[in-house]
Amino acid sequence: LADGPLKGKHVLVTSGPTHEPIDPVRYIANRSSGAQGTAIARSLAALGADVTFITGPADVSPPSGVKVVKVQTAREMKDAVDAALPADAAVFAAAVADWRVENASGSKMKKDGSGKAPALEFAENPDILAGVSQLKKGRPKLVVGFAAETDDVEANATAKRKRKGCDWIVANDVSPETGIMGGSENAVSVISDQGTEVWPRLSKDQVAAKLAKRIAGALA
Ligand code: C5P
Repeated sequence: LADGPLKGKHVLVTSGPTHEPIDPVRYIANRSSGAQGTAIARSLAALGADVTFITGPADVSPPSGVKVVKVQTAREMKDAVDAALPADAAVFAAAVADWRVENASGSKMKKDGSGKAPALEFAENPDILAGVSQLKKGRPKLVVGFAAETDDVEANATAKRKRKGCDWIVANDVSPETGIMGGSENAVSVISDQGTEVWPRLSKDQVAAKLAKRIAGALA
């Protein structure tokens, strides 16, 4: 482990999308590449943190020097987070699917010739960030959530911070024209009880380094 201000601190990071099965060969996913969460885990480790990196099926490889836990679904991610606690800080950068397919099929669904399409039913997934933020016992000292929004970014993110009970929300605009989702840059605002800090458009690595530094400051 690297030497640095986070030496001796355990930080958990979730990252990437989740995959929610429809049947054994099909799933519902989202466009998260895992790039920002991976960069954050790398930056935290570089500052000496003992990092547990819980990742869905991402496009990018996990960083070295962290403990990697690979999951597919939101429910698996929640179990992995619960198993990784306690932590000094937790960063929830994953794009967790809000819903899973409740009537997922155990075998591959087939066309039956009737011309009728199957109907998927959805059930809400557990909100991992809200669950950890609202822990009565063993809550990490610092809980950081992300808010990927396409409209009214700051207002929605501020409301989200309150609703979920996390300490900071890192808000970003993921409208397609920003090129942020799947891209190498990010433009974020960090919302805390101190108000909103607007960061310039930076590389995802620079955002990660800045955030890791801020986390080290908060845990000091
Ligand atoms: O509500 P929304 O999905 O926009 O909130 C985003 C934040 O909540 C992210 O930090 C994400 O990792 C987290 N989240 C979660 N579990 C869910 C949904 C979102 O941890 N089921």
